[in-house]
Amino acid sequence: MGKDVIIACDFSSKEEVLGFLDKFTGKKPFVKIGMELFYAEGPEIVREIKKRGHKIFLDLKLHDIPNTVKKAMAVLSKLDVDLCNLHAAGTSAMMKAALEGLTRPDSTRPLLIAVTQLTSTDKQRMNDEILIDGEVGDVVLSYAKTAADSGLDGVVCSPLEAGLVHEKCGKSFLTVTPGVRFADGDVGDQVRVTTPAKAKEIGSDYIVVGRPITAAADPVAAYERCLAEFVG
Ligand code: C5P
Repeated sequence: MGKDVIIACDFSSKEEVLGFLDKFTGKKPFVKIGMELFYAEGPEIVREIKKRGHKIFLDLKLHDIPNTVKKAMAVLSKLDVDLCNLHAAGTSAMMKAALEGLTRPDSTRPLLIAVTQLTSTDKQRMNDEILIDGEVGDVVLSYAKTAADSGLDGVVCSPLEAGLVHEKCGKSFLTVTPGVRFADGDVGDQVRVTTPAKAKEIGSDYIVVGRPITAAADPVAAYERCLAEFVG
């Protein structure tokens, strides 16, 4: 998989998401299906969007005891998505169990990446509320190393950390990075943000872009702008 823009399709109904995707005539953007859409429409919406020819990142951020995650991943592996994820905070035992569950009888599986620290978390919240000391960047790197050692394919992190993650975990270890905003756009609830061009410079493999595209007056133009800045 090369560098690409993944659109976060954070909609709450089938009608909304299909109406949105219909605007992309002749194009099949890589899409992210998250909790909102999945909980509203269930697995059928994943099959439907896959049938339309899109690559899918199923962003359900699993985090539970190893056996539960393993069994849930075994169910998700039947959905034929390209990429799925969990929280690295679940520890290496959970990540290894997830990989086992995700691997199909023919040994194929979707790529599996780990959320390190959410891009809405800053140092103060991490230190004071999650009770993890230190700098966010160091925690992200440490979680990334544990994910790599557990056999995962990459991490979700801020674009600001993508370069360091590659240095520590290797060039082929994927960095999938939300928290992307146009230089002239709204930040919203994201804290650690950067532009598509800057994400490219730092070395993200995939940028995940939601509201800057989904809430744009012209979503197709906003998507093209992301592609032009990030892929070139
Ligand atoms: O609208 P916006 O561009 O902020 O959307 C970012 C998307 O990436 C959301 O779907 C959010 O759930 C997801 N995400 C994130 N930070 C993470 C992991 C996922 O923002 N660490």
